[in-house]
Amino acid sequence: MKVLSVSSEVFPLIKTGGLADVSGALPIALQAFEVETKTLLPGYPAVLKVIRDPVVRLELPDLLGEPATVLEVQHEGLDLLILDAPAYYDRPGGPYVDPLGKDYPDNWRRFAALSLAASEIAAGLLPGWRPDLVHTHDWQAALTSVYMRYYPTPELPSVLTIHNIAFQGQFGSEIFPGLRLPAHAFATDSIEYYGTVGFLKGGLQTAHAITTVSPTYADEILTPEFGMGLEGVIASHIDNLHGIVNGIDTDVWNPATDPVVHTHYGATTLKNREENRRSIAEFFHLDNDNAPIFCVISRLTWQKGMDIVANVADEIVAMGGKLVVLGSGEAALEGALLAAAARHPGRIGVSIGYNEPMSHLMQAGCDAIIIPSRFEPCGLTQLYGLRYGCVPIVARTGGLNDTVIDANHAALAAKVATGIQFSPVTETGMLQAIRRAMHFYADRKLWTQLQKQGMKSDVSWEKSAERYAALYSSLVSKGM
Ligand code: ADP
Ligand code: GLC
Repeated sequence: MKVLSVSSEVFPLIKTGGLADVSGALPIALQAFEVETKTLLPGYPAVLKVIRDPVVRLELPDLLGEPATVLEVQHEGLDLLILDAPAYYDRPGGPYVDPLGKDYPDNWRRFAALSLAASEIAAGLLPGWRPDLVHTHDWQAALTSVYMRYYPTPELPSVLTIHNIAFQGQFGSEIFPGLRLPAHAFATDSIEYYGTVGFLKGGLQTAHAITTVSPTYADEILTPEFGMGLEGVIASHIDNLHGIVNGIDTDVWNPATDPVVHTHYGATTLKNREENRRSIAEFFHLDNDNAPIFCVISRLTWQKGMDIVANVADEIVAMGGKLVVLGSGEAALEGALLAAAARHPGRIGVSIGYNEPMSHLMQAGCDAIIIPSRFEPCGLTQLYGLRYGCVPIVARTGGLNDTVIDANHAALAAKVATGIQFSPVTETGMLQAIRRAMHFYADRKLWTQLQKQGMKSDVSWEKSAERYAALYSSLVSKGM
């Protein structure tokens, strides 16, 4: 089967979060199920800089008013189609924001262009290759199935994956003419959303199947609390809604071979983590003692519960723990965390910024990772934690609920516990979880059991890739 995957970020070329990890790893995992994927992504400067010897595959002289070229290149096991459109993507800053962190004002056009190019490829414009199915990710690619509905192309099935319903790509109705859709597309069964244009809304209404990245999140987005206004739309497609939990690339994330990890280890050589632990203490200027090191590797936002971390930091230290934070995000949260570090030299360390190698080393050296998200569609850092023996302490929500087994009495007795869950997601809830962690940590045997059990968890893509492959097959055989 041939699949066109469409994503605004793809690891290892361009990443701001878990979406990149997923769109970079799933195509490789799907190869075992005879799914051949080409992935379309924007030609940001960071992408064009690293690819070697791309081939021009398609010229699009008027892609929503600007010229574009589709380049094809193989990169680290991925077959990539790169949308080279300098007017849209050749700028300093990140994929979505300018160097000052402000959304580009023309994001609607930048990602409509990506989606329109995808629909052209779906229609067979790429010489010698036409997909059997299109798989789009998040609002940035969601217009693909909208264009596929209105442009006269042979009907092809499409799957839309929601990685985070908090980001919906909602814009004023004045942009509608610029999308070059027929007037009747501005309707509730399509992209119209309370008088505005909703990219994700349009995708949900036009895709043949909707998936999200964990079973619990699939249930949660049917409720007003988590559906963020789209719960009714999701409910109307409930028969085509699937929750498939993310896996991780177990080659990239392997403590026995990870090139940035100083001292390699496995479940039977956990003692080797000590050396990595020392490196972490050094990097964050922590006292080198036996107190547990709790870590956070995260976007610093309200979703991720980072205000809670900042507010309980003093108490974590008072309980005898140490805390290290790697992340960037909202200025107020960065400031609050840096202030906590300044109050507790040797006990709290904060590094503001994005640092992929350090994120690996922290999983390999810290004792536990705290993930107090208010909502979490899947979450990947708890999966990396499980794989690296860095015990996850997580809010009981979304994918965190589906992937971590709480160390309650029954689970401990059955030796299946892999971490700690807490609810409600409040300061009290989190402190209670930290207290439990301190208690378990004091019992070395018990802690090692938690680490080992976590390392045994199946966090690979295998089962989930099989589920995607089965979903693709069912849609293709239905001939939708
Ligand atoms: P989200 O996509 O919502 O941010 P995920 O848990 O799915 O959350 O994915 C986050 C990804 O980004 C993980 O691969 C994590 O290791 C990485 N990450 C987050 N913050 C940083 C950072 N400051 N430095 C390096 N990697 C980070
Ligand atoms: C989103 C979600 C995160 C998920 C990731 C990959 O960024 O916030 O929970 O793990 O997508 O699916």
